[in-house]
Amino acid sequence: MDKLLISGGVPLDGEVRISGAKNAALPVVIASLLTDQALVVHNIPHLQDITTALELLGHLGVRVQVDDRFAIEVNAAQLTSRRAPYELVRTMRASILVLGPLLARFGEAEVSLPGGCAIGSRPVDLHIKGFEMMGAEVSVEEGYIKAKVNGRRLSGTKIVFDTVTVTGTENLMMAATLARGTTILENAAREPEVVDLARCLIKMGARIHGAGTGLIEIEGVDRLTGAEHRVIPDRIEAGTYLAAAAATGGRIRLCGIDARLLEAVLGKLTEMGAGVSIEEDAVQLHVKEGRLQATDLRTQPFPGFPSDMQAQFILLNAIASGAATVTETVFENRFMHVQELQRMGADIELRGHTALVRGVETLSGAQVMATDLRASACLVLAGLVAEGQTVVDRIYHIDRGYDCIEEKLAQCGARIRRVSRGQYPHAASVS
Ligand code: EPU
Repeated sequence: MDKLLISGGVPLDGEVRISGAKNAALPVVIASLLTDQALVVHNIPHLQDITTALELLGHLGVRVQVDDRFAIEVNAAQLTSRRAPYELVRTMRASILVLGPLLARFGEAEVSLPGGCAIGSRPVDLHIKGFEMMGAEVSVEEGYIKAKVNGRRLSGTKIVFDTVTVTGTENLMMAATLARGTTILENAAREPEVVDLARCLIKMGARIHGAGTGLIEIEGVDRLTGAEHRVIPDRIEAGTYLAAAAATGGRIRLCGIDARLLEAVLGKLTEMGAGVSIEEDAVQLHVKEGRLQATDLRTQPFPGFPSDMQAQFILLNAIASGAATVTETVFENRFMHVQELQRMGADIELRGHTALVRGVETLSGAQVMATDLRASACLVLAGLVAEGQTVVDRIYHIDRGYDCIEEKLAQCGARIRRVSRGQYPHAASVS
């Protein structure tokens, strides 16, 4: 198992190109199941989750080709299976997104229940309820969600989500594109990744209005066609590099990112005392004199502060001047990084869904364990600021969502290196 070795204490200084968004690319490639024509997708990040999604599509019979400019062509003209097996769903919860398109196009689908995950129980009841309201018969047997529509076609209806759900909105929006009649999704997720998926579906011939608001209206059509689409940049990757530069008291220029995707994060960084400047297709951050100021925050669905940036901001508060509370309202158990940060000398107290963080002057390097994607990113950032050496174990979590993280950080001066099992601990120093 690979580990990351980090020698802390170097302020970052450099430029990073932001990759395509994982959480936009996943639903977009899966949307290829809605048509028998080719969908060409650009700006796909090189990530384990994308490999898993393409493997799942391949398992269903989708033809996947990568061209010489790294665009991916996915063609679901001839499917051989309508079943997403446990082995693939288990490694990536977003696999549940095949349910809507398969059900809409073929009138049947089977997807393994994703099960528990490190950041909470994360049920899919709202997806299932929505499909039932659209006329599907859904049962759970032997760990699989089995869904079927009599007469093969789903019917449009009004669905009000009890909780804002990103993949729930995406799943039902995709299903509704081929349903009979109009579907209205109320209390829909407004995340930019939902909007990007809607843009791709519209290019495929779907009739969707209101994506990006809490009320999305989808008029079903008889068929969708092929299309070409470029996924939006990854706002969470961008936010993570901004936090890394802020944590180390350095400067960074991110290119290929639209600052409008980052408003809540940039607002908090400014509040903490970082200097931010915005260009058309880039964002720069530098830390002015002195320490960052601790700042309270509360995660919320978009446009609020993203849950996917909570761990990185706990780290920022952990080394800031003063004390702050960080409240997680989206997931029930997303504080796994706190224990590891405490081992590095952070002063953090957990009170239910709130972390009370008192800033300390320094952290010290330690051997720490990644537990989920964003928790791992937080530990890498902690390693960059800590005195001495940090070893981050189980970094397969990072490879699910960060494209070339050690190369991008090293290019800004960080002393970070990946070692594989055989190399460690003999090669335990980073230069
Ligand atoms: N929820 C339910 N029932 C459902 C669906 C969701 O109770 O049927 C609850 C969840 O348990 C959670 C809340 O609703 O408490 C919000 O969950 P949501 O469905 O929005 O999360 P998701 O769609 O599974 C996506 C991202 C996550 C990101 C969240 C929140 C993808 C592939 N994943 O997850 O990304 O944290 O939205 O913004 O888009 C990550 O990239 O590290 C990551 C975890």
